[in-house]
Amino acid sequence: MEHTTILDEAWLRLATLAARPDAAAIRPLFAADPDRARRFTATLDDLTVDVSKTAIDGEALVALLDLAHEAGVEGFRRRLFAGAAVNATEGRAAMHMALRAPADAGLHAALPDGIDDASARAAAERDRMRDFVARVHDGTLRGATGQVFDTVLNIGIGGSDLGPRMATEALTLAHGARLRARFLSNVDGTGFAALARELDPARTLVLVASKTFTTLETMENAQAARAWLAGALGEPAVGGHFAALSTNLKAVAAFGIAPGQVFGFRDWVGGRYSLWSPVGLSIALAAGWDTFQALLDGGRAMDLHFRDADFAANLPVLLALVDVWHINVMGYRNHCVLAYDDRLRRFPAYLQQLEMESNGKSVALDGRPVGRATCPVIFGEPGTDAQHSFMQLVHQGTQVVPVDFLLAALPDHDRPAAHLVLAANAFAQAEALLRGRTEAEIRAELAAGGMPPAAIDAAAPHRVFSGDRPSTTILFRRLDAFTLGRLIALYEHKVAVLGAIWGINSFDQWGVELGKVLAGGILPELKRGAKRGVHDGSTAALIARFKDLRGEA
Ligand code: F6P
Repeated sequence: MEHTTILDEAWLRLATLAARPDAAAIRPLFAADPDRARRFTATLDDLTVDVSKTAIDGEALVALLDLAHEAGVEGFRRRLFAGAAVNATEGRAAMHMALRAPADAGLHAALPDGIDDASARAAAERDRMRDFVARVHDGTLRGATGQVFDTVLNIGIGGSDLGPRMATEALTLAHGARLRARFLSNVDGTGFAALARELDPARTLVLVASKTFTTLETMENAQAARAWLAGALGEPAVGGHFAALSTNLKAVAAFGIAPGQVFGFRDWVGGRYSLWSPVGLSIALAAGWDTFQALLDGGRAMDLHFRDADFAANLPVLLALVDVWHINVMGYRNHCVLAYDDRLRRFPAYLQQLEMESNGKSVALDGRPVGRATCPVIFGEPGTDAQHSFMQLVHQGTQVVPVDFLLAALPDHDRPAAHLVLAANAFAQAEALLRGRTEAEIRAELAAGGMPPAAIDAAAPHRVFSGDRPSTTILFRRLDAFTLGRLIALYEHKVAVLGAIWGINSFDQWGVELGKVLAGGILPELKRGAKRGVHDGSTAALIARFKDLRGEA
């Protein structure tokens, strides 16, 4: 007979709850418990997370909390903050929390070559960054022709782009930027061509952001930027217009960037957790140092909450348990993020890497199949825009898609009435998903409007909303830098808790390797006259057709 562990029993209890009639119903839970909204809302100061619009009742919450305990989330959290090598396949800690901690926080981190004094190292590099930012802002550091820099161009991809780009946009959209920020990630030359038309090389500071400093796209784009600067200002001018943000100091030196303009970090910072590191230099240059520091402080506040709060009141843990309920118990495979805030329009794109690169895994830490669903597909757009594109499916489609709504109570613009329209729509979408609209209600409405019975028969089925569609609402006072920091760290820790529950490594990304290797093999084949490689029939035919269309058959 197969051995059943306490953890298996915790999963079994959840499966039993899922098998109850009406397990997906949410409305009856409100009817049964007038205090439900309060009981299923947790806060960290003004940051409010309401998970009451889900089908999790008191019994299910207890079962989910048991699961977290049985899965060893407490032990994982301790090991994470102790700087243990939680990234087991690479022998590294995941100590991004040190980047937002004070120098004397005493956070250490494991690496294959020893233990690093992570918080002290991070603080020392932060001091260098602050000094650099001050010198750019006060004009001490200028371009080769003596003009002050008015633009920072961040060249990087993945974690070296998505986080800094999202945060820079979020923090400069309301109040403007100290320095105009541009981001170049894709190796599609169109992006660089457009920037070269727009930017003045004499006033542009280029940041090459790459943890490894080997990423093909980034290196190609950095060379393009170098040639552009050299062409406009002369080769000797190039060095002063570049800074590098990387762990690979040797490769940076080979590229020719002066040590004074290189900001380093160690391998205990994962790429998708690096916006708090020197990779966030574009945020500090564009939004100002104090704003960047407030972002770090917000991340730190969430770290302390995650580290210390009981699971039942722990925001990252609660969000993770809601996800477990939806993914593993209810079988939902997609997750939508709707920030009712234009400043967060890049937030879903950022979360796609954070969540899907971290937890898009099917093998457990012990190398065996994980045996249950892991990360869902994450997508999203700002509200209200989303209401006019894909929300039709979320309301009436054949699959249930849990939604996260994000909303600030106070805007940072001078159109308060517009903010109320925005907020009304956020609340209304969540309410509509929950409440639905029955056929009887629709029939009564149409009849009251004078529609003939035959027309009502035809119209009514199309207007039914099932309701009981789950959502979580994350409400906060303002989207300032501190709160953005709290939000990012909230999702970071949620992702880590999910990984611990599923028993997977959330901190590696082997799944991106194969495509990179194959692209390296295909690239020489695409050159005129090159020999054909060995491929499946489709890929071989497409490469041949590609060359044919280019007139190079
Ligand atoms: O896409 C894979 C990946 O390794 C990401 O994890 C990372 O954020 C991105 O590439 C960029 O890597 P780097 O910062 O080393 O250029």
